Amino acid sequence: MPTTRLFYALWPDAPLASNLATWADHAHAHAQGRVMRTETLHLTLAFLGSVDRAIADELIEATPFHRLIPGELTLDQYGVFARQRILWAGPSHVPDLLQAAHDGLWLWLSAFGLEPPTQPFRPHVTLLRNIERDAPPAAPPAPLTWRYDRMVLVASESSTGGSRYRVVAQSCPRPA
Ligand code: 2AM
Repeated sequence: MPTTRLFYALWPDAPLASNLATWADHAHAHAQGRVMRTETLHLTLAFLGSVDRAIADELIEATPFHRLIPGELTLDQYGVFARQRILWAGPSHVPDLLQAAHDGLWLWLSAFGLEPPTQPFRPHVTLLRNIERDAPPAAPPAPLTWRYDRMVLVASESSTGGSRYRVVAQSCPRPA
C-alpha cells in the first residue's frame, strides 16, 4: 500500500517568517548548524508520519471542514532538543486555545484510525538542525506574536538535499 508522510502545522505569514529567520540567524552565530529555509518554517500541531494513501486522500478532503478556533501565541524563547541537535523558537507559556487546537485535532484524527502521540505537546518552530553547541543564546530577539486562524496539512517528500514540503489542504477558521 503506497503511503504519504503527513503533518498538520501552523504556517507563519511572510512578515512573521522573516522575523523568525532573524531569530535563526541570531542563534546560528551562537550554535552553528544548518539554518532552515525561511519558506519552510512552521509549528507542527500533529505529526502523522507515513499514512496509507487512502487515509491521506480522506484527510485532504475532510481538512477544509475541520474548524480551528483562531488564537495567538507569543514566541519568546529559544530551546534546544539536544538528542536531535535542533534549536527552536517557542512560547514559554502554551495558550489554552493552542493546547485545545492540538487536543481537538487529535480527537478528530482518531476517527480516521490515527493514534495520538504519547509525549506531551511541545510547540516549537525548528530554526537550526545539526547544531554544534547544545545551548541557545541567552537572550532571544524581541518576542513575536503569532495570530493564527487556520492550519495546513503538509506532505513531506524526500528529495536530494532534504525534505520538500507541499501544502495539500487547509482548515477553515471557526466562525465567531
Ligand atoms: P522537528 O522540527 O522538531 O523535527 C516535519 O518533519 C515536521 O514534523 C517537523 O516540524 C518535525 O519536527 C515534525 N516531526 C518529525 N518527526 C516527528 C516525530 N516523530 N514526532 C513529532 N514530530 C515530528
